[in-house]
Amino acid sequence: MNWSETDAIVEAAAREMGFEAYADIGMGATGVVYALEDWGVMKMSFFPQEPALSLLLKKLADQGLSHPGLPIIRDVRRFTNPDTGNTAYFIARDELHEVFEDPGLEDAPVMQLWGRILYQIRKGWDEDKQYLIDLAVEEWGDRKPALRYLVDGLAWLKDQTGAVVYDLHSDNVGATREGVAVVRDLSHFKDSKGIVELLLPEIQPLELATCGLVPAG
Ligand SMILES: Nc1ncnc2c1ncn2[C@@H]1O[C@H](COP(=O)(O)OP(=O)(O)OP(=O)(O)O)[C@@H](O)[C@H]1O
Ligand SMILES: [Mg+2]
Repeated sequence: MNWSETDAIVEAAAREMGFEAYADIGMGATGVVYALEDWGVMKMSFFPQEPALSLLLKKLADQGLSHPGLPIIRDVRRFTNPDTGNTAYFIARDELHEVFEDPGLEDAPVMQLWGRILYQIRKGWDEDKQYLIDLAVEEWGDRKPALRYLVDGLAWLKDQTGAVVYDLHSDNVGATREGVAVVRDLSHFKDSKGIVELLLPEIQPLELATCGLVPAG
């Protein structure tokens, strides 16, 4: 798929979901991300993990259960190309985030800090050592409160869903306008409860035929 095809399919999917895609803003190992005109974002992914967990988050939010350190999910849909049989997933989320911290840009000590917190968080989750996570947060000086949202959000997610998100390199963490650190990439997580198997069948298909992406007849 080239960029103009990617633009076309994301634009069409966004429109069917009631949004307007505005510009591509990022690409990673599992997906592409577009800004929406209303300060939302749309991620297209060909892998099922993030859409399944996103749908679960949306269902929890619909029941009044949410956490500020996690993304607000508007909608999750799928589209299977009838020619190739390939499925793309579309996740519409609420907020366009700045990167929380880009430690590589300014100075080396901060970079070490980010590396350390990731290590401690990973070990903390793996070995059930909350004090390691708390230690990591303590090191962040005036950014402590923001980061606390993130680690509390991840703990909340683990309690609610069993999912342990572990891919926390710095560009996967965003900051809201209120200065809350939010995980913005849910594509890699340990799934002890079969979230993908349970939620994937519930992702509703998108009808993109009207957009000219599916050959007529
Ligand atoms: N909410 C957001 N606000 C602003 N930019 C975002 C947002 N979500 C994602 N991005 C940008 O899009 C890029 C790709 O998104 P994301 O990390 O979700 O994709 P990925 O393919 O899962 O990446 P990875 O290589 O980390 O697996 C991010 O690195 C970031 O630059
Ligand atoms: Mg990423």
